[in-house]
Amino acid sequence: MAPIAIFLSLLPTCALSGKRPNILFLMTDSMDGRVIDPQATQAQAVELPFLRDFLSSEGTNFVRTYVNSPQCVPSRTSMCTGRRTDQIQTWSNEKGLAASLDGTLDDGCVSFYGKDQCASWAKQQNYSETIFTGLAKLGYGVNLYGKIDIGAAIMNDKKVRATTAALGWHTGPNLQIVTRSADIRRPTKQRPLELTKENVDHVHPEDWQTVERCQEWIQKLPPAEQNAEPFFLYCSLDIPHPAFKTNATWLAKVKEDKIELPQWPQGFPQSWHPYDSYMSISKHVEEMNYTTEEIMKVRKTYYAMCAEADYLLNRVWLSLTAKGYGLNNTFLVYVSDHGEMNMEHRQIWKNSMYEASTRVPFAIAGPGVAKGHRVTQLTSLVDVLPTLLDMGQETNWDRHVGLAGKSVLQLAGATSFAPAQFVVTPQEPRAIFAQYHSNMANTGSYMVRKGPWKYISFGHTLAAFSPKVYTPLLLNVDEDPSELQNLAAQRGQIVEQLEAELRMLLDPSEIDSRAKREDFHIYKRFFGSLCQDELRKKLKANYQGFDDGDFEKLQKWAKEISATLPPEGSPTTFVV
Ligand SMILES: *[C@@H]1O[C@H](CO)[C@@H](O)[C@H](O)[C@H]1NC(C)=O
Ligand SMILES: *[C@@H]1O[C@H](CO)[C@@H](O)[C@H](O)[C@H]1NC(C)=O
Ligand SMILES: *[C@@H]1O[C@H](CO)[C@@H](O)[C@H](O)[C@H]1NC(C)=O
Ligand SMILES: *[C@@H]1O[C@H](CO)[C@@H](O)[C@H](O)[C@H]1NC(C)=O
Repeated sequence: MAPIAIFLSLLPTCALSGKRPNILFLMTDSMDGRVIDPQATQAQAVELPFLRDFLSSEGTNFVRTYVNSPQCVPSRTSMCTGRRTDQIQTWSNEKGLAASLDGTLDDGCVSFYGKDQCASWAKQQNYSETIFTGLAKLGYGVNLYGKIDIGAAIMNDKKVRATTAALGWHTGPNLQIVTRSADIRRPTKQRPLELTKENVDHVHPEDWQTVERCQEWIQKLPPAEQNAEPFFLYCSLDIPHPAFKTNATWLAKVKEDKIELPQWPQGFPQSWHPYDSYMSISKHVEEMNYTTEEIMKVRKTYYAMCAEADYLLNRVWLSLTAKGYGLNNTFLVYVSDHGEMNMEHRQIWKNSMYEASTRVPFAIAGPGVAKGHRVTQLTSLVDVLPTLLDMGQETNWDRHVGLAGKSVLQLAGATSFAPAQFVVTPQEPRAIFAQYHSNMANTGSYMVRKGPWKYISFGHTLAAFSPKVYTPLLLNVDEDPSELQNLAAQRGQIVEQLEAELRMLLDPSEIDSRAKREDFHIYKRFFGSLCQDELRKKLKANYQGFDDGDFEKLQKWAKEISATLPPEGSPTTFVV
């Protein structure tokens, strides 16, 4: 008898209870994480009975979770592979994962860039798994509905039942992205108020279809006790991504008197950090004539969209519980790819390292997960992949190499199957990182969050971004949640420590230079052979008010960056 007893005692306890739990993975686009933190002021602005109230009371809410890169494709590819942006080199929305793990090139990539370029990118993109392949390996039926946006030939993957509603590759060559470091200070977007409407029923009609498809899929499930194959159901919406469009039903969920008027730093644009002023101009929030009413109109419309997102995702959960599935057999996970500035810091969209843009929802509920638990340890979207594997009772962690994050299941009080090096513990002095190399930002930026601190530094490749001008920021997020006081000059030692943390992980200059050179490479290939008139016409269509001075700037930029390219034939030469 003795050997059997020893054998049993080696098994993880949950494995004895039978099959792996199901996972319902709910996702939104552009949800400011503070809106689902019950203690944040932003949460007071709108009723969210499901995404905030239900998940906070029935599950564990990781209220200090950050993105790895605040834009759809860089953020989602990073979350889905568990790797940092620089590791997988998905710098912007024009470049996802060029191939699947078995080497199948992504059709979207090939249609925009051709086979040779995609094959060359695929070779440099160092990843060894995705959330979807990892869970399929553990025996999950993987079903994807709605926005995916990672490329990786996901639509061809037979193990992954992606639907026609699921989006694969995002987009192709984009003039605003590839010329960002030319520092052309012109609006590239519509004014916020031109994007704002209060009489529109469906800001993203496809979201309603995504929810219906998820519900139809759930309808076909066998009763919970008869279901042999654990499922991973991914339902992913566009909302509350701008435009800011809503109607009276959703506006009725907003508490206007609880919406704060954001403070904008004085002295725009002359005394602003040049990175921030570029971003506000690019986002077309540079005009000086904003009234309080106009700012509040945009803000309340955004919160109303959050209410619609809440309603939609709650419908998916209700369909599942109607079939007899519940938190006893299914993990419920909610995340967003990035936040929304919603007029803070004279900005809309995301792209920046401020809280509204980088802080995201991350809440889980399900078997063993503590109820009503609010976790303030720093967490990141790179933690999502190891957490999902842990929910799937992965025991063979040796096969997961190069992961940038760790499982948070233990923080949520649930049984973890991961060895110590893959587990986030409550007290560890954890540092969290983000980076951004895409449009509406003229140069690369990096964020280190640790304790109360947020350190933001910038890429210095090209003369325009000299370290004397593009100086770092140090913010105390706990004491200064509006992020208006730059303490970098006073707290030099903290700056040094956080800069050292960043450099232990990556080489910020090398990565900034690499991303800018790749931009220029795409620029040359797709726009470089245009005759001057045609090029000017395209530039005018992308940069409102583009003039001769801007054109001169662009030519100087092209000359300067050409000189930084490696010689032909060197190993880092990009394939054309
Ligand atoms: C607002 O739109 C929703 C769908 O998003 C619809 O169900 C509702 O009836 C609309 N409300 C009004 C007042 O038109
Ligand atoms: C500000 O001025 C511009 C240019 O005159 C105008 O088009 C815009 O509607 C005004 N209001 C806001 C909020 O931008
Ligand atoms: C699991 O939870 C669901 C929904 O609450 C419930 O209907 C079902 O009976 C529960 N199953 C078990 C085995 O407890
Ligand atoms: C790819 O990632 C693995 C795991 O992190 C690492 O060991 C390896 O050096 C990386 N390869 C390249 C080419 O970057």
